[in-house]
This record gives sequence, C-alpha cells and structure tokens, in this order.
Amino acid sequence: MMSESDQSYSLVILSKVDPERELPADIFLKIDQKYIRFRGRGDTIGAEKFDDFMQHGLEGIFVKDDDIMTFLDWVTFVQNEEVEALVAEVGEDTKEIAIGVAKVKEKVYETFFEQELNDEVVEQLQDQVAEFVSSIKKQPFSQQTIAALTKKNSTIADHSVNVANIAVYLAMVMGQAHQYVLENVYLGAILHDLGKAKSGLTESGVGDMRFSSQAMQNHPELSVQVIRKSKGVPDPVYKIILQHHEQWNGYGYPAGLEGEAIYEMAQIVSIANFFDNILFENRDKPRHEAWEIALKRVDHDKERFWAPKFFPRVLQALSKAKPA
Ligand SMILES: [Fe+2]
Ligand SMILES: [Fe+2]
Repeated sequence: MMSESDQSYSLVILSKVDPERELPADIFLKIDQKYIRFRGRGDTIGAEKFDDFMQHGLEGIFVKDDDIMTFLDWVTFVQNEEVEALVAEVGEDTKEIAIGVAKVKEKVYETFFEQELNDEVVEQLQDQVAEFVSSIKKQPFSQQTIAALTKKNSTIADHSVNVANIAVYLAMVMGQAHQYVLENVYLGAILHDLGKAKSGLTESGVGDMRFSSQAMQNHPELSVQVIRKSKGVPDPVYKIILQHHEQWNGYGYPAGLEGEAIYEMAQIVSIANFFDNILFENRDKPRHEAWEIALKRVDHDKERFWAPKFFPRVLQALSKAKPA
C-alpha cells in the first residue's frame, strides 16, 4: 500500500467548489509542504469555513490525483444543475439570466478569494457585470426570478450576489434605465461587504443595522481600501460601498449622512442589503414566510432608513416577487 506521502495531489481552485454540497472525494490542505486531510468524501466544507478561507485568500484545496477527474466532473455537474434548477423553477425563458448569474457568481467568488484586487481582476469583474446588465436590460427579471435567485445565501459571496440582483431589480423598478448607472449599482452591491469578508466579520445583527462594533462600522471604508488599489472603478461605485449603511435619518455609519446627502443608488443597495440580511436571519423558516418577515421589516423601518420617494413602489415590487 502506498503511504500518504507517495501520493500525488492536484490543486482545485476553491472558488469553484460549492461549500454546501457533499464532496465527491476527500480534500486536503497543504500545510508546511504536507497534505492534511481536511474533509472526507460525503462531507461538506460549510459556509463558515468557506468564508474563513476567503478571508485568508486560500487559493485552493487539494485532491488526490486518482480523484481529480471525478472531482472536476462534479464541479461542472453542480454548476449546470444550479442553472437547470433555476430554469425548472422559473421557466425556459430565464435560461439566459440563469447562465449570466452563474458566470457573474463564478467571477465574484474568484474576486473574493483575491488578497488584493488588482486592475485585471476588477476589469474582468466589470466586463462580466456589463454583459449581465445589458442582458437584463433586454429581458428584465421576472418577479419569480428575483425570488429564485436569492435562494442561495450561505457565504458572504452569495449574499453579495443576492444584494446585487435585488438592487438592480429595484433600481429598474424605480425607472433607472442607464446601462452605466445599473452597472455601478451591480458592482457596488457586489463589493459592498468586501471589507467585511476580509476582516472576518459576520453578517448577524446587521439586519437591524445595530452597531455591533467599531470594526463593523469600519467595514464600508475597509471595502473601499481593498478596491482603491485598482484603477478604473467609477466614483459612484465607491459611493455605494461607503454609504450602504447610511440612513435617511442621519443615524447611519460611517459618516452619519442625512437625507438627500446620501447617494440614491446607495440607498437602493441599502434596501437590498437589509432585505437579504433578513432573509438570511430567517433562512430556517419556509421561504414565503421569511420573505413576508423581510417585507414587514422594510415597511416598519422605511421612514428611518430610506428616502420616501422609494415607497410604496419598492415594497410593491418586492411583495410581487414573494415566493409561493
Ligand atoms: Fe455592510
Ligand atoms: Fe451586506
């Protein structure tokens, strides 16, 4: 029998692995030139560990060479299945959106695993976002699509994509039709919590915008710092990121901006963020129930947090999207 050390291993990029699925083979971490078994076949990585790996920029896990083909087939299978599940739920005409979201998601996962966002990473992400936004301008999200798209919500990367999809939906509902603005909304939403991902803060307690710590209050600025190193990110994207926890009543953070001083697209992302956080907090309940709670919470807090002009339209749009 071969000893563990005689085995050869292949690297699998972690951003391609679904943290909630049962693994088709054992996976290993490389620590001090040794391969340490981390999870067995049939185990899952788990969202918490995955966020942890993201925070530390761990690029990959290792699989035994004997298992690599099985593993890669499984990666492709899981990706296709996600697209098919969406199409099955919402209908064949969402196929393009489903594929678009899958592509965006892959790029987002890749981005979140980067230690630093250089120009190339950001450019690729921007291209992907531009392509996706032009496709949803041609064929806007149906109401069921938005519910189906936000179903997956375990890692900070999932949350970011959910917020982007909800935000762009709301921006369009509010009559925003400019490609450039919608791209910025999408990109700003994707990157809004990057600083949180990089500092290991959790999402819990954000739903009611409680100030849980100084670190939490710093995360919008931290997100901007991570991105600043790359050129070409438009100013509105920074504004969205910096202001996604500002509140209409002036009691938000980090700057305590009030009313019209807050960029309106940052407010849209703020609603989307709030909504997705409530869905996450209620993820153990049936979907329609969690959705109902999130609607009530937005309704309850709307005067404090957001511009009056968004209501009742935003709530109507979210309410129509409620899953059955
Ligand atoms: Fe945040
Ligand atoms: Fe967030």
